Amino acid sequence: MRIDIATLFPEMCEAVLSESIVGRARKNGLVEVHCHNIRDYTLDKHNRVDDTPYGGGKGMVMQADPIWRCYQAVCEMTQDKPHVIYLSPQGKVLTQAMSVEYSKMEHLFLLCGHYEGVDERIIEKIVDEEVSIGDYVLTGGELPALVLADSVIRLCDGVLSGSECFEQESHYNGLLEYPQYTRPEEWEGMRVPEVLLSGHHANIEKWRMEQSLKRTEQKRPDMLKTYQKGSN
Ligand code: ADE
Repeated sequence: MRIDIATLFPEMCEAVLSESIVGRARKNGLVEVHCHNIRDYTLDKHNRVDDTPYGGGKGMVMQADPIWRCYQAVCEMTQDKPHVIYLSPQGKVLTQAMSVEYSKMEHLFLLCGHYEGVDERIIEKIVDEEVSIGDYVLTGGELPALVLADSVIRLCDGVLSGSECFEQESHYNGLLEYPQYTRPEEWEGMRVPEVLLSGHHANIEKWRMEQSLKRTEQKRPDMLKTYQKGSN
């Protein structure tokens, strides 16, 4: 998989994507990620990338042309037409199911807006879908792009040590994950549940499923409803 990120703040993206599991996946050649500075694609001698909105109003709007030129350069470089996602609070809210679908794609192009957003015409011209990471407004699309990239990259083949890493986790099967414990068996007077020390795998599985259902009911009743509907 290849992910290209078009942004005015490539260093911010690069810093996050060089660390931990994602950084290692890149080093090991499991995913290719490239951060592009939209400012490098302007023809303006002052490297201008934004201007005031037609019709008046506050703030600045990112111009279509530098973004278009950045997109075309990526298409040319890769001889490919990536799936283009514009990170925006107006988009469809990201879910685990969407990340699973993106992780099957060969090539994503993530467009990060800033200020009052981007000229609508670039959305019409290149964007396949708009994605939001939640119903709140951030200063730009960089953090959302990083969230999306992280959730997609960790699902790519070979990035985590085995499929069990995400088969059990929260949201994978529509339920929250069961509670986890590690050594010592007793800490501050609190003991690890006996069943986990029993070595009885069937009982452990049963206990974990019960705990998943219970927590989902307590913490995310909305998810439990969807889960029950799906299993009918
Ligand atoms: N840009 C600003 N806020 C955003 C959000 N919540 N999701 C995606 N992109 C954004």
